[in-house]
Amino acid sequence: MADPPLALLAEVTHRCPLRCPYCSNPLELERAAGELTTEEWRRLLGEAAALGVLQVHFSGGEPMARRDLASLIAAASEHGLYSNLITSGTLGGERELKEFADAGLRHVQLSFQDVDPANNDRIAGLSGAHEKKTKFAAAVHATGLPLTVNMVVHRQNLDGIGEMIDRARALGARRLEIAHVQYYAWALANRAALLPSRRQLDEATRIVDAARETLKGILTIDYVVPDYYGVRPKSCMSGWGRRFLNVTPSGKILPCHAAESLPGIDFPSARDHTLADIWYRSEAFNRYRGTDWMAEPCRSCDRREVDWGGCRCQAFLLAGDAGRTDPVCALSPDHGVIETALQDAEKTPEGFVYRHFS
Ligand code: SF4
Ligand code: FES
Repeated sequence: MADPPLALLAEVTHRCPLRCPYCSNPLELERAAGELTTEEWRRLLGEAAALGVLQVHFSGGEPMARRDLASLIAAASEHGLYSNLITSGTLGGERELKEFADAGLRHVQLSFQDVDPANNDRIAGLSGAHEKKTKFAAAVHATGLPLTVNMVVHRQNLDGIGEMIDRARALGARRLEIAHVQYYAWALANRAALLPSRRQLDEATRIVDAARETLKGILTIDYVVPDYYGVRPKSCMSGWGRRFLNVTPSGKILPCHAAESLPGIDFPSARDHTLADIWYRSEAFNRYRGTDWMAEPCRSCDRREVDWGGCRCQAFLLAGDAGRTDPVCALSPDHGVIETALQDAEKTPEGFVYRHFS
């Protein structure tokens, strides 16, 4: 019997004013008409709390594109769930944040594309985005909600990492998450333009290590080296169906945000099944749970219950089979695809291919 889930990522909409070239949403986006209704979300959040979920992360797309977001936060709060808002900060401001805080919101995570306004707006595909985000950070501060600044980094902004740390402090953040792009969906299509070089990565890591020392007790910095440069994979989602579940805008329940890219798996909908049924009994959640599904080299590896064989979606995207060892593992027979990608990262960067919602 699996343990209950700890956290739920609520992708309340795919609508978003930004067009980031590393967007992790699926290539096929959900239309507004297909989204779960307020009542459906309220029921689902109640089921999640009964199942044992402790935290809900409201995300998207841009979650503030939903006019009923305050009602959803209130529902989470009524069920005793800790709620976090993950936003681009480009829709709304102090009035909405005050409403969310009154509804029980506990934390805001605000993403930036860069500290440099022109580069931020170029990457986001939206002019004026940086200015809106800066005002939004001030509004978070005014409401008294704790703020985490999320800087998404890659080869076209990584050299500004020192300024990013300074900016997070200036914006009043308690925590800075420096998140290297992960190569799924649009990010995989733009990988040659996004993957940093070894020189860039080493310099960025040196700056972060030094800042962590000098800012101890002032600013917490989360920073993980991208797995393409590691020798063992990340424990993606802490293992398939072990801790997290992800709800798509139309109510499909997934073990991770990218799972719909995997063929041959029927992901159940909260419209047709209870969350408990899906979590404990669905074929989708049991397919890669635990270690029974593993082949060699994972099956006999002493890290099989540490990283759970890495990421199933990355294994499918890079090796064509979600049941294979994640190719970022140096023990994987498919590891050559990573070495080729890293060699390409030393070449001249390419332009971005932007996503469009329409
Ligand atoms: Fe992890 Fe499998 Fe690599 Fe071992 S062989 S480190 S379990 S991915
Ligand atoms: Fe799907 Fe890693 S993103 S298992």
